[in-house]
Amino acid sequence: MNADQKKRIAAEAALAYIDDNTIIGVGTGSTVNHFIDALAARNVRIRGAVSSSEASTERLKKHRFDVIDLNAAGDLDVYVDGADESDPQLRLIKGGGAALTREKIVAAASRRFVCIADDSKLVDVLGKFPLPVEVIPMARSYVARQLAKLGGEPVWRENVITDNGNQILDVHDLSITDPVGLETRINQIAGVVTVGLFAHRPADVLILGTDAGAKVLP
Ligand code: A5P
Repeated sequence: MNADQKKRIAAEAALAYIDDNTIIGVGTGSTVNHFIDALAARNVRIRGAVSSSEASTERLKKHRFDVIDLNAAGDLDVYVDGADESDPQLRLIKGGGAALTREKIVAAASRRFVCIADDSKLVDVLGKFPLPVEVIPMARSYVARQLAKLGGEPVWRENVITDNGNQILDVHDLSITDPVGLETRINQIAGVVTVGLFAHRPADVLILGTDAGAKVLP
């Protein structure tokens, strides 16, 4: 089974966490695209969705789901999103698709975060996937120098502008043994908008697509 088939298995299993007539949070990426398609195919009757990116908004609207502003929605029962890596404590690296800031906001505003991924995303220690950091453009070089002092190698993701008009640095060569501490330290660098470490607010449930079907952690 290939990675895309596993993503679809995880995405379809996430439907079990969705109640009719609720407003849900929807993340970004290829796994979430399967989730949005599955919501439509199974005719799940949600009241609407708060979307974490322009790309997901477009897909939701294509399927005729209402997209609702978070300011109007209040707190959400459930947020469904993918990840680039998860450790066994469900702390995540996210932002491969550059949507990390809105993803972090919607995750924070949700009572339950259901993460969906193929099983290659589960790792013992976070950091093999370069850690995305969204920065204010004028601060990019300054932030890069501070990130280098933390032991990583920041690389500017050129030609990418986030939905918020900012830039992304991908930090290579980190072995993240203290995700909560690193998230705190990076958040304190002036010019950082969001770091793609979800350690203070990890996922509550991780659904992995595997050769044997959906596996749910913890
Ligand atoms: C988007 O910014 C990311 O956080 C995605 O959730 C993450 O990159 C997972 O993407 P895939 O579902 O495409 O693997």
